[in-house]
Amino acid sequence: MNSAFKKEVTAGLTSFPKYLSSKYFYDKTGDKLFQDIMAMPSYYLTACEFEIISKNTFTIGELFRDKENGLDLIELGAGDGKKTKVLLKYMAENNFNFIYKPIDISENAVELLSNNLAHEMPTLNVDAEVGEYFEVLERLKSFNKRKKVIMFLGSNIGNLPHPRAIEFLTKLKDAMGPEDLLFMGFDQKKNPQTILDAYNDETGITAAFNKNVLTRINRELGGNFEVENFKHWEVYDPETGTAKSFLIATKAMEVTIEDLQLTVNFEEWETIHTEISQKYDDKIVNWLAVEAGLEIETSFTDQKAYYKNYAFRRKE
Ligand code: AVI
Repeated sequence: MNSAFKKEVTAGLTSFPKYLSSKYFYDKTGDKLFQDIMAMPSYYLTACEFEIISKNTFTIGELFRDKENGLDLIELGAGDGKKTKVLLKYMAENNFNFIYKPIDISENAVELLSNNLAHEMPTLNVDAEVGEYFEVLERLKSFNKRKKVIMFLGSNIGNLPHPRAIEFLTKLKDAMGPEDLLFMGFDQKKNPQTILDAYNDETGITAAFNKNVLTRINRELGGNFEVENFKHWEVYDPETGTAKSFLIATKAMEVTIEDLQLTVNFEEWETIHTEISQKYDDKIVNWLAVEAGLEIETSFTDQKAYYKNYAFRRKE
């Protein structure tokens, strides 16, 4: 992890324009900030997906069920599992035979979730794992003794540009058998203002979340970023549906990162691109599915149609 972090920070900060990956937002502080983001009313994604899962628990649960052999429920990017718990409760109460395998890149998130489930749902069969999405895909193939359902909620797919999303979906498809399901959340295109408001809160939580990558470089790689000299900036392109986050240097600076033996110069107003949060519509999701060899079986939306969960199968 640390050497991947080193490599990627070096590549991103010596490139023009500069970039850093949003996957490095997530450590203990970042996880807490993301929890705070999910609790903000302006960050509608979480509430919408929670509404979808809560209102369609029976239909979704029964879509997952295999009465004969049971199933393996694998969740990528499980986070705090708040939305999944609704389904887990339904499945446990209705005698589903299943194991729940949450996987997250954050060791801290996996530990918190495991402890929480052991406490709240002690009879549940949980087998948690820490790992990066692309890394764990290979291991998914070994879950082939019975039906598997792979879940990827929170519009996490939106943090990947389309070519990477297709690559990711293709790998998921390669790990799926004909009975398996992929259940995913995709934030939808909507009023651009609503999207900007979700990523641009006045309280500065999203800014702190983005800046956490700089704090991590300071702490973990001996950097000396003066974090307060960076401004978080969000843009949304309604044509492509891409929301983009930046950290912008508000003055010229020289930053040194000891462990990388690297000096990085910033000009005033120079940018570091930190994240994309892609928004979708049915056409784009269908295109991604076709490109990856998947097909949409069904979908669910919330009352405002802000967000959609799709169930995919492998296309035969
Ligand atoms: C995890 N991911 C889907 C979030 C998003 O909406 O892109 C991360 C996030 N970034 C800023 N706010 C939330």
